[in-house]
Amino acid sequence: MENFMDLMTRRQSCRNFNGERVEREKLEQLVEAFRLSPSACNAQPWKLIMATGETAKTVRECVQEAGRNKFTDNCPAFAVIIEEHAVLKPAVAEKFHSQAFAQMDIGIATAHYCLAATDLGLSTCILGWMNEEKLKNALGIASEKRVRLVLATGYAADDEIIREKNRKPIAEIAEYRA
Ligand SMILES: Cc1cc2nc3c(=O)[nH]c(=O)nc-3n(C[C@H](O)[C@H](O)[C@H](O)COP(=O)(O)O)c2cc1C
Repeated sequence: MENFMDLMTRRQSCRNFNGERVEREKLEQLVEAFRLSPSACNAQPWKLIMATGETAKTVRECVQEAGRNKFTDNCPAFAVIIEEHAVLKPAVAEKFHSQAFAQMDIGIATAHYCLAATDLGLSTCILGWMNEEKLKNALGIASEKRVRLVLATGYAADDEIIREKNRKPIAEIAEYRA
């Protein structure tokens, strides 16, 4: 593995996939990277549907709601992340019931997945924009569940072009106190 800071710089949202299929072994490594992620009380409140082929076609239609995310036309694989009930330790559940730990857990696991993908030469785009009801119906996901994110996964047509990161200045987001 390369230097971790370099890996984080190289990870960027891909909106130009080349359509090439992703090898099954690589999808399995991404699932493993997701699975190794930490979670509150180790609750692991998630399920993944790794969609390729006809299922990817269905997912594509659902993330292109209202004409958005058209670039996914060339994306061969998607990870659909379903939030599961987080079984927290009773004391934690009682004291922190206002905290959305499950969503945080999914965010962290998503970072694991995307960085692992970059390390494998793949590219990703995290998709929050979707027709969730349509997606749940199409994939047979229970209506009371939430699909939190869809991770577009494939090979970039132009992965050697690393865009400059557009981020708030450090002084705006962090302070050091001693
Ligand atoms: C929760 C979440 C939802 C997002 N949803 C979308 C989306 O639906 N479509 C899209 O093109 N990008 C989406 N993005 C990607 C962001 O726009 C992108 O991460 C951000 O602009 C920073 O750019 P970078 O990922 O290239 O560093 C999403 C990112 C996150 C974290």
